[in-house]
Amino acid sequence: MMMRIIFLFVGMVVGGIFLSQPVMGEKTASPGEKIFTELGCVECHHPEVKINGPALKTIAATYGDIKRLLAYFKGDTGPIVEPERARTMMPRRRKIKKLSEDRQQALAEYIISSR
Ligand code: HEC
Repeated sequence: MMMRIIFLFVGMVVGGIFLSQPVMGEKTASPGEKIFTELGCVECHHPEVKINGPALKTIAATYGDIKRLLAYFKGDTGPIVEPERARTMMPRRRKIKKLSEDRQQALAEYIISSR
């Protein structure tokens, strides 16, 4: 009886340690990915698949580099991926424009890295 209780206890401790570890091979989110999630961009943008908004890999392929995407974030250039649907993106664009330079940079890095 005592033995069973000990086994049960050890099992719980080992199981607890195991579950608290990140799953093997899971990559930790980059700062840009965290901002992307926090701001709710994930609702409309998936890395690979078009949902409401274009897939991140499509945006990355269209922009090609971080500087060009930053110019869009700052409002210096207009939409080029699906300009005919730019209205949907409008309220978020205003939000992005107000972000700090660092956060805009992190977001751009994350999106461009999705190619
Ligand atoms: C309600 C849905 C929705 C949300 C939320 C959203 N987007 Fe979009 N996004 C769109 C749609 C639709 C387009 C296509 C229109 C366009 O290209 O302007 C788009 C286009 C874009 C583009 C390409 C712009 C271009 O040059 O055409 C970028 C970059 C982008 N989104 C980034 C973001 C980021 C970053 C966030 C979070 C702050 C975000 N989106 C949140 C719907 C959304």
